Amino acid sequence: MDLHRLYPLLKILADGRFHSGETLGRELGISRTAVWKRLRMIERVGLEVQAVSGKGYRLRQPLELLQRDHVLSALDPASRTLLARLKILPQLDSTNRYLMDRAEHGIACFAEFQSAGRGRRGRKWHSPFAANLYLSVSWHFDTPAAALSGLSLAAGVWIADALQAAGVEGTQLKWPNDVLHGGSKLAGILTELKGEAEGPCLAVVGIGLNLEMPLQEAGGIDQPWTDLRTVTGSRPPRNQIAGLLLRHVLQGLAEYQRTGLAATRQRWHRLDYTAGKPVRLLLPSGTMSGTAQGIDEQGALLLRSGENVHAIHSGQVSLRRNS
Ligand code: ATP
Ligand code: BTN
Repeated sequence: MDLHRLYPLLKILADGRFHSGETLGRELGISRTAVWKRLRMIERVGLEVQAVSGKGYRLRQPLELLQRDHVLSALDPASRTLLARLKILPQLDSTNRYLMDRAEHGIACFAEFQSAGRGRRGRKWHSPFAANLYLSVSWHFDTPAAALSGLSLAAGVWIADALQAAGVEGTQLKWPNDVLHGGSKLAGILTELKGEAEGPCLAVVGIGLNLEMPLQEAGGIDQPWTDLRTVTGSRPPRNQIAGLLLRHVLQGLAEYQRTGLAATRQRWHRLDYTAGKPVRLLLPSGTMSGTAQGIDEQGALLLRSGENVHAIHSGQVSLRRNS
């Protein structure tokens, strides 16, 4: 699906008003037949087009597409100087992959759609068009790669801060990379690293935040999930939330560069979904049970089992609460 070709038409239709085939053709410089073909293609990305004779075509639901100026207006001068470049693209396979390939510092990339959005361990991240936010930010660190083991945990705190700034309370974090609301997954974080073990290295922090997930697109998600529309009961302002998210991620990365996980560890503990709860860890070799006791300085999960406290490092591990 080539969304780049459909994008000019989508920008016109985003307002949710009727546009005649003739006007659309004139504005885009294409024939009415070509307009009609593109409208059919739009339906294949999961958007519903309504056709009414005498009026024209409109989207059943208006879209708030991401706009560079609007996103940038949420940045304060300090975070603006941290940003080398902002890319907003209609379509990518994965914003993480895009930035990993470029390996530059301080680039933020949003995509309206990801054809191969990825989660941990090669899992798929559902990324329907203009529905949620898909953001990656790349950052150069001089530290050894091991010092970045807490980056995904810190990113959870930045997301919670951005949501709070947008008026959304009640966010919780589940080790190592989930952002939850009411026990369901609202956002996921995928941090990827490239470079030397001793440093320097490039980190790409990728965030998928569900704003308004169309039900027909969520069919394949095999765990409880939620979106901001459900949480707040109203349509989330996409550009405003995108800007706040970017602002908190940039500030967070700069802070992590200075102090590592130390700056956010306490805040992480306040948002900890499994704190003091009986949990089980799903490991490749089997299941381990115990009580979750937060995280250590490196970001390892502390699991009390009998008299022992184990430090569990992220990797091939999944954490589940028993109740
Ligand atoms: P873990 O506890 O290991 O992090 P997880 O089940 O959350 O486990 P991840 O790899 O972190 O797994 O996330 C990928 C999973 O997230 C997918 O397997 C799918 O179940 C779910 N998922 C995919 N897209 C979305 C989405 N847009 N919103 C919520 N959940 C999603
Ligand atoms: C997870 O919970 O497993 C992590 C999901 C991370 C999804 C985001 S969306 C933006 C960025 N690009 C990707 O391909 N993945 C991350």
